[in-house]
Amino acid sequence: MSTAISPTAYNYKVVRQFAIMTVVWGILGMGLGVFIASQLVWPELNFGLPWTSFGRLRPLHTNLVIFAFGGCALFATSYYVVQRTCQTRLISDSLAAFTFWGWQAVIVGAIVTLPLGYTTTKEYAELEWPLAILLAIVWVTYGLVFFGTITKRKTKHIYVGNWFYGAFIVVTAMLHIVNHASLPVSFFKSYSAYAGATDAMIQWWYGHNAVGFFLTTGFLGMMYYFVPKQAERPIYSYRLSIVHFWALITLYIWAGPHHLHYTALPDWAQSLGMAMSIILLAPSWGGMINGMMTLSGAWHKLRTDPILRFLVVSLAFYGMSTFEGPMMAIKTVNSLSHYTDWTIGHVHAGALGWVAMISIGAIYHMIPKLFGRAQMHSIGLINAHFWLATIGTVLYIASMWVNGITQGLMWRAINDDGTLTYSFVEALQASHPGFIVRALGGAFFATGMLLMAYNVWRTVRASNPAEAEAAEQIAVVGAH
Ligand code: HEM
Ligand code: HEM
Repeated sequence: MSTAISPTAYNYKVVRQFAIMTVVWGILGMGLGVFIASQLVWPELNFGLPWTSFGRLRPLHTNLVIFAFGGCALFATSYYVVQRTCQTRLISDSLAAFTFWGWQAVIVGAIVTLPLGYTTTKEYAELEWPLAILLAIVWVTYGLVFFGTITKRKTKHIYVGNWFYGAFIVVTAMLHIVNHASLPVSFFKSYSAYAGATDAMIQWWYGHNAVGFFLTTGFLGMMYYFVPKQAERPIYSYRLSIVHFWALITLYIWAGPHHLHYTALPDWAQSLGMAMSIILLAPSWGGMINGMMTLSGAWHKLRTDPILRFLVVSLAFYGMSTFEGPMMAIKTVNSLSHYTDWTIGHVHAGALGWVAMISIGAIYHMIPKLFGRAQMHSIGLINAHFWLATIGTVLYIASMWVNGITQGLMWRAINDDGTLTYSFVEALQASHPGFIVRALGGAFFATGMLLMAYNVWRTVRASNPAEAEAAEQIAVVGAH
């Protein structure tokens, strides 16, 4: 499919802004990750101050990496993909600009309020109600821009990547609004509208689907556009992508209770969550295979193209974490893994291996196109980044597996007389080497991000955005 389009076709300004901020927030969020990982090695780094304590910086890390880094990558790529695959400009430049500045304002709000200790205490939904409302407004505007652009598309079909982005936008709005229902008692404090086990269930319905729709479905949208583009091959199976979409969104929404095994949640709900999580393996792997097989006949490109390597290795980690997740959802396995570093390893197999790697690949793909350059300033630096990221991720997850299983086994070891074999502190001491390796792995990953920043800066410095837009005159669009 190829079509010539007019010179002023696309709004690239907002894409450029989000793409650059992805790199900036990536460095800050991951840098903070390395810092809190170091706090677990050297507790003196808490500095004895409330604002710099692990308990306050940890949620800042998760907010920065998920919403600031991951969120900006999703905004940038979805605005880029929707315009190119619909062959039309975003429906409104001013609404798009509002989503950029509004999103940055929410992030700055998180940076200020979380270290000060203002929090709802709900994981991944910590921001207090004024920021949560701003976030909801920005998100609804995002939906208007995205779906508005789809409605004025010049193509007959809606490319499958947009289906994934669309589901991610709709479900994230639903989750955020329902989970944040609360009663404000002051400007900085609110209480959840739900109580007890219901509150826990709503929170993990939110939490799990934040993983499923924010950290997975949106990034699958990215996968469906950037893997075929970078490999210069059509997607392996369009039919499989449709089955993948419907199966994934139908199943994910039921799996939340696997976060609440052996709690006050009714037993049947726990078992349902477990069963749905195991079934979830099928669509997850269907999607992964669809992405991987797109490289049929193009595998040789991996030898010379580090951007493609980022994209393909991200799919490998996606496959790995979506195999591990269903296993951890089995109640007997969860009785060992829950509360241990195994969960943290699983999280980062998904977060570093999948989410960060695919975002990095997509940003490297877009930057030259957004700034009117033939390619990134240095392919060698992308390659170095790729190895730092891959080795960093492996160090992170391997150390957390060792730690997790060690902790799980030490906590449950019992002497003949029924007393515990090990104290908690002994298990903590046994974890110390793993904490060091994790901090090292994180430092590798974060160093790679610094190389990326330098490479992006050099590419942008020599750029000509006007040319980038003019080049669109003759651009051949469409990922399929
Ligand atoms: C340089 C890279 C990174 C390092 C060193 C790092 C380090 C850490 C550390 C030390 C924790 C706390 C673990 C604990 O409480 O025992 C953590 C938690 C977390 N991080 Fe990262 N992180 C990094 C990158 C990322 C990225 C890119 C994402 C997401 C896209 C992410 C998502 C999370 C999440 C969701 C948690 C909470 C996990 C849970 O509660 O189970 N991290 N990270
Ligand atoms: C089929 C797919 C998946 C299933 C069935 C699954 C299942 C699980 C299970 C059972 C846990 C442990 C819950 C606990 O013991 O507390 C967990 C934790 C987690 N998973 Fe997954 N997982 C999947 C894929 C992913 C992916 C791809 C990512 C990231 C991109 C991810 C991110 C997380 C996070 C952030 C947590 C920690 C939540 C918390 O306690 O704070 N998962 N997952």
